[in-house]
Amino acid sequence: MNRAMGFVAGVALMLGASNVQAADISAGEAMYAQACAQCHGRTGRGMASFPSVSGQDAEYIEARLIQYREGEQVGPNSALMIPVAADLSDENITDLSAFIAKTFQ
Ligand code: HEC
Repeated sequence: MNRAMGFVAGVALMLGASNVQAADISAGEAMYAQACAQCHGRTGRGMASFPSVSGQDAEYIEARLIQYREGEQVGPNSALMIPVAADLSDENITDLSAFIAKTFQ
């Protein structure tokens, strides 16, 4: 391997190891308005049996969405959330979580 290739491989490794995927907050915002606001509310405060998603950090939201995507029973009403999360990609989850955590404090 020549030096230049070694350098490129090293950078790729570092990026992979840090596992930082840039979140696209405006994509998260658009998706939230379309797919989440009808239950969790435009300001994330929830309503009736739909829980608030405000005041959480991105890691918490992300972990919940991954659980729902995997079909896991989390609370009493997971059956409502599981089909919504089923189609989310990793990128969707990163974007949504960043938007929710940043906007609904
Ligand atoms: C059909 C109504 C509905 C829609 C649409 C919906 N949710 Fe939910 N969501 C729920 C319900 C009900 C729960 C509680 C589920 C349970 O009891 O486990 C929940 C739980 C959650 C939680 C966990 C809250 C906590 O404090 O643990 C998060 C995060 C969440 N939803 C995010 C989202 C996102 C992001 C979207 C849009 C992609 C979305 N939801 C769309 C009904 C909905």
